[in-house]
Amino acid sequence: MANFDEAITRRETGSLKWDRRPDLDPLWVADMDFTSPPAVIEALRKRVDHGVFGYGVPHASLIETLLDYLQRRIGIQVSEEAIVHLGGLVPALSLGARAFGSAGDAAMTCTPVYPPFLGIHRDASMELQTVDHCLINGSWSFDWDAMEKMVTPKTKIFILSNPANPLGRAFSSAEITQLAEFCERHDLILLSDEIHCDLIFDEEKTPHFSALNLPDELRKRTITLLAPSKTYNIAGLGYAFAVIPDEKVRKRFNAVKGHTLAEINCLAYYAAEAAYKDGEPWRQELLAYLRKNRDLLTTTLRNALPGIAIPEIEATYLAWIDCRPLEIENPTKKAEDAGLYLSDGAFFGHRNCLRINFGTQTDRLESALETLIAAVRS
Ligand SMILES: Cc1ncc(COP(=O)(O)O)c(C=O)c1O
Repeated sequence: MANFDEAITRRETGSLKWDRRPDLDPLWVADMDFTSPPAVIEALRKRVDHGVFGYGVPHASLIETLLDYLQRRIGIQVSEEAIVHLGGLVPALSLGARAFGSAGDAAMTCTPVYPPFLGIHRDASMELQTVDHCLINGSWSFDWDAMEKMVTPKTKIFILSNPANPLGRAFSSAEITQLAEFCERHDLILLSDEIHCDLIFDEEKTPHFSALNLPDELRKRTITLLAPSKTYNIAGLGYAFAVIPDEKVRKRFNAVKGHTLAEINCLAYYAAEAAYKDGEPWRQELLAYLRKNRDLLTTTLRNALPGIAIPEIEATYLAWIDCRPLEIENPTKKAEDAGLYLSDGAFFGHRNCLRINFGTQTDRLESALETLIAAVRS
């Protein structure tokens, strides 16, 4: 049994989360304060013990594992050629922009959203079109009318986060199909970032609907981006992969790589394989722990701050707190003054909101929530 309650010292380990602001208690960037599954650590140890770290390639059993993962988790069969291996998911977003857009074109996304979505258009000298997500029956969804008004013939790509960082939505098959039809109607490539898809709390109620599950005629304009990094807490190793079923789309995507990408870390391949092959029991334990943290967070904040809506968090270990109804300026700064390092909503496209990472020990989360409530009330 994994012991997620065990606090692990991360200060002075070269951790972005813990070492950037040593004066603050960090619940910001999306990595978790847990060790990775023993199977992942063992696979890394075995590879390190070999002692030679020359250039790597995706080895045969990794590819087998990825194809098996796609079949088991997403229910699709793809050929090995459809997979593009990458050293991270953000570079893939940039490749998508550069492959399908150029100066004067536009990229569209819905906010609030993971900050690089609001920046990668610059890599292709494109413009950015953002439409706010809207609350429908207490759940974050798409504002279809606003998207129709915003889209122009210059729009070339739509960038989707599903499950959504920071909103915690696992979008339904109806929503993803409607979005894909929007892309088809306006001739857009759908870049579907599904990095959080193995962090859904109730798969019966809100199953993951991947862009890869779309019918063929819609799927052919999709690029689906996946990684084991968030679920198994190996983001620092750097590995992700794209699944691009259409050959022409894939060729264009690969063609813009040029000399812009580093070789993929030879250890990361082995960590990815072990995570997908042997990490499932650990993932189930993790989800049980995160579910408890999510419930603690939503119940505590709903009781303490009844002015703000906290919709159900269906996925991810990230909570979006929209403080705008409280009419306080810069809640993240208030939290910071009280000693907490949270993510400022402004970077996600919405000021006066904040994001809390609850992928940490429950007692730590509990005390951070107390601090946050006191700070917001003061
Ligand atoms: C939606 C989303 N995409 C991509 C990433 C980062 O991916 P990578 O570290 O592989 O570039 C994150 C990290 O938080 C994320 O939340």
